[in-house]
Parts: sequence; structure tokens; C-alpha cells
Amino acid sequence: MRPSLAALWCLLLASGSSGQQMGRARFDDVTGAPLNKAAKDILARHDEGVSGPAVGAEDAFDGLKAVDVAEGTWKFVLLECELGSRRKQIVRALEGLKFHAENFDVVHSLLHPLGIHVRVIGGGRIARTEVNKTISVYGYSKTFGRSPGCNERTAGIIREVLPGYEVTWSDAGY
Ligand SMILES: *[C@@H]1O[C@H](CO)[C@@H](O)[C@H](O)[C@H]1NC(C)=O
Repeated sequence: MRPSLAALWCLLLASGSSGQQMGRARFDDVTGAPLNKAAKDILARHDEGVSGPAVGAEDAFDGLKAVDVAEGTWKFVLLECELGSRRKQIVRALEGLKFHAENFDVVHSLLHPLGIHVRVIGGGRIARTEVNKTISVYGYSKTFGRSPGCNERTAGIIREVLPGYEVTWSDAGY
């Protein structure tokens, strides 16, 4: 039997809360360097390999939303997810997360146990307004470094998924 998507989300929430018990990750605002163990652990997870695909991996991969961007201004990451020879780039700017690495870790904690490899291509900030239907992609991630083309590609992915928005991008700012 395949786990339902709901079961996968429970898995995500469960792994998220066990992460919280270990203390929330903190990164330096100026250098992007990890400041505590929780932060170092996320970066170690980023470099981890994956084992073979688990039951439900194909469904989870097929069900991955290309864009999940909260209203307001939040840090985002462009992620590449890989299952066998399949690759998919997804954008995440989740509400309430302070760091690029946290956005990565939420997705990683869901997909890695299934054998789906997740890595950060780059990051920055996304400002989304519902009133004016605008989305602006800018800045970069100090923790993961500048990533040429990341903001333009991110804007392109968002335009495809959210055609009702005026989407702009720039490499300026932080
Ligand atoms: C929406 O657009 C109007 C007119 O350009 C502007 O005055 C207002 O600040 C915008 N609202 C937001 C939330 O960006």
C-alpha cells in the first residue's frame, strides 16, 4: 500500500517538530555562517547522499508543487529535487522561517527519507502582495552563496505557475 499525501505531510510535521526540540537553527545575518548545532546539522544534511527510493517516492515526487510562496516578504530557496534520473526545480518561501536553510530543511525532511535528493541552487527574498498581485524576486543567500541565474529562473518558474501575477526579478539587494 502506498502512503497517502496526507500521511506524507504528517511525516513532514513530525520530523519538523522533532527538529524544533533540538533548538531552532540560527545563522549569522552578516556572514550566513551557522551559529549553533541545529544550523550546522542542517548544512550537514544538505551534503548527505540518498539511499535507494522508498515506497511512495514517485508519488511524492509527482506531487511536488513547483511553487510555494507565502504572502509578504520572506526568504526563498530554489531547490533541485532528484529521484533517480528525474529532476525538478521548486521554489519555497515559507511563512515564518527566518533562514534559507530552514526552507531547505522543511522540504529535505519530507523527501530525503523517501530517497529523493534535495539541494539548494540558490536563494534570496520574495515579496508577494495579494492586493496588487505582484511578486518580486531579489537578493541572495549568504549561507549558500550567490548563484548566477537563480533569481531569473525562480521568476520564470513562478510566472508559469502563477500567471495572474506581475513577476519581476533582480540580483540586487539582500
Ligand atoms: C498597491 O498598489 C498601490 C498603487 O500603486 C500602492 O499605493 C500600494 O502601496 C500597493 N500595495 C501593496 C501592498 O503593495
